[in-house]
Amino acid sequence: MEHRDTFETLDPEDWEHMRRLAHRVVDDALDYIHDARERPAWRPVPADVAGRLEQAAPHGPSNPADVYEEFKRDILPYPMNTTHPRFWAWYMGSGTVMGALSELLAATLNPNLGGGNHVAPLVEKQVIGWVRDMVGFPASSSGLLTSGGSMANFTALTVARNANAGCDVRRMGVGAAPGPLTAYASTEVHSCNQKAIETLGLGSGGLRLIPASDDFTLDLAALRRQVDADRAAGCVPFCVIATAGTINTGAIDDMNAIADFCSSEGLWFHVDGAIGAVAILAENVRDQLAGMERADSIALDLHKWMHIPFEAGCVIVRDSAAHRDAFALVPEYLQREADGGGMASGSLWFSDYGLQLTRQFRALKVWMSVKEHGLDRFGRMMARNVEQAAYLGRLVEAEEQLELTAPIGLDIVCFRFNPGGLDTGSLNRLNQDLLVALQESGVAAPSYTTLKGAYCLRVAISNHRSRFEDFDVLVKEVLGIGRDLARTPPL
Ligand SMILES: Cc1ncc(COP(=O)(O)O)c(C=O)c1O
Repeated sequence: MEHRDTFETLDPEDWEHMRRLAHRVVDDALDYIHDARERPAWRPVPADVAGRLEQAAPHGPSNPADVYEEFKRDILPYPMNTTHPRFWAWYMGSGTVMGALSELLAATLNPNLGGGNHVAPLVEKQVIGWVRDMVGFPASSSGLLTSGGSMANFTALTVARNANAGCDVRRMGVGAAPGPLTAYASTEVHSCNQKAIETLGLGSGGLRLIPASDDFTLDLAALRRQVDADRAAGCVPFCVIATAGTINTGAIDDMNAIADFCSSEGLWFHVDGAIGAVAILAENVRDQLAGMERADSIALDLHKWMHIPFEAGCVIVRDSAAHRDAFALVPEYLQREADGGGMASGSLWFSDYGLQLTRQFRALKVWMSVKEHGLDRFGRMMARNVEQAAYLGRLVEAEEQLELTAPIGLDIVCFRFNPGGLDTGSLNRLNQDLLVALQESGVAAPSYTTLKGAYCLRVAISNHRSRFEDFDVLVKEVLGIGRDLARTPPL
């Protein structure tokens, strides 16, 4: 063992040096966000950088400033680039400066949000209360901040399964249910729900995918037929998952109709609102979400359209006792002193409401961002994205060689370049090549989907930095690349 004269810890050896470095880090971070528009919307990771990122862990220390230089050389230039005003891929958020600063502060305090008597759980409780009020759930509901929509859906579906299984699932397992447990959603439901149902032991067939209507929403008549058929076959329908903003096209299921159906059939009404639930804040979306407040549970993402830095999801459950019953397990080393004071007192243990014991202080970035901006500004950002989607739709419709491939839902626009005279396969390949060329140009970063066999570009805006002009740039670039590709015969 190396002999040391000083007491070794993981704190800086030279605090002044670290302080100067920290100031540089903060300055660079602010520049990075401020100058987002100056960088390409995407650039691939070069091979030499990827190679260095495969090296084994060092056994000895490095100067912190050198580590930071390595970060600047190998990591900073090649992000996913969600901060860019023309980043419109998958469905992301674009982050906030306050969110970034609060991540630093959360890590500085480094609390564990499993439970205990300290201030951080009170912050999470307050944030959950804000979300609960926002989506119109009663004060008696419970909630949990999660890593994202996937865990929020998983948490809610666990509660739904346990509440409606017709047996004590925690003690006896799903095999003790009076029949196979079945949940229902449209074919447009996000795949994380399928994963959740499989993980809950119900098998992939435990999620009945009901063909979506032409507008990509859940077809209620088909839902009713499937539930009737399943009951007749001895299954135990337990839940309908409605989507508030589908990943493909932003479609919003008819919440009131599904709420009526669930209450008449005794089914749990769950809403996957990962994309669209927060748009209750946007005056040009709010009405489309009517009935969402009647759900038994709702999963939503704050790291998508609310732009809180990843990860930040939330689940709200109307029946807080059912929620707690699904997860609470209190071994002796986690016993609470109800009134005795001390660090273990208090009944606010978030580990009783989800799978995780140790949990990060993700509530802080939500708390600070919401306090900084106020909910109304978030709503205005979303409303503008919806207007921008309509604007892009008009640009597409005005061009003979562009066509919309789905109705525009929320802020998601699906379209393709179609020069005419190509069969489906060639047209799909042309649009695939176009998308890759567009992304590699660094001008804009949409993603893609395939709708009823048609491969298309998918612009999921969800970006508080996008300006209307950015969509003019996109259309010009798509037409330019598309025409070049259409002129170039395939190899
Ligand atoms: C409708 C919907 N549900 C759930 C998810 C999963 O959420 P997360 O990626 O935050 O886990 C997504 C992700 O895009 C989504 O669009």
